[in-house]
Amino acid sequence: MKIAIMGAMPEEIAPILQKLGEYKTTEYAKNKYYEASYKGVELVIAYSKIGKVFSTLTATTMIEHFGAQKLLFSGVAGAISETLKVGDLIVATKLSQHDLDITAFGHPFGYVPEGGVFVEADKAMIEMSKEVARDMGKTVQEGIIATGDQFVANEERKNWIGSTFNADALEMEGASVAVVCDALNVPFFILRAISDAADMDASFSFDEFLETSAVESAEFVMKMVDKILE
Ligand code: ADE
Repeated sequence: MKIAIMGAMPEEIAPILQKLGEYKTTEYAKNKYYEASYKGVELVIAYSKIGKVFSTLTATTMIEHFGAQKLLFSGVAGAISETLKVGDLIVATKLSQHDLDITAFGHPFGYVPEGGVFVEADKAMIEMSKEVARDMGKTVQEGIIATGDQFVANEERKNWIGSTFNADALEMEGASVAVVCDALNVPFFILRAISDAADMDASFSFDEFLETSAVESAEFVMKMVDKILE
């Protein structure tokens, strides 16, 4: 089996590469991919760069070029739900693109014909994440994640995304990765640790907590890999 572990930024995959220690680096399509053996399976790891376009390219490459059969995303997010604080973990049940807008034609936000508003994540891995959380003594919230090509640092925009998509957290890659995996029939799991509250202080909070929250998420994702291999 080959498992992809993906982040958007170097900080999001650094803890994973550090844990693995040894890996092979391959350059492909203007990005670096890291391959390693881990407990008898092959891993391919990469950060995509920020946003929906780069994350689409990386997820597709991991599946179509490197042959990944499952994909786990690790990274940080801005909180919408009041119950999510910096460092808390959220597992996506389903994801939507908050900046996809053809409402002028009478469609809901996030919808395009022959697509849907939401893409659902793999239920088996969501179930597994409950066990992992129990094993680790951690609390993990499940919820809806909204994705867009926009760093949200504005209470009004955040609240609009929250009410329009019933979203609990927002970030910039999850929904595009979800679309790729869904289309290519690859089970996927999107985990995020909160770095900020997507409000006027978001950029400062993000800079302060990116690394520590990324570590929280990466540790959990590696435990997910362990659980998949059990
Ligand atoms: N990722 C982490 N925080 C974010 C924010 N406020 N907006 C978009 N993506 C994020």
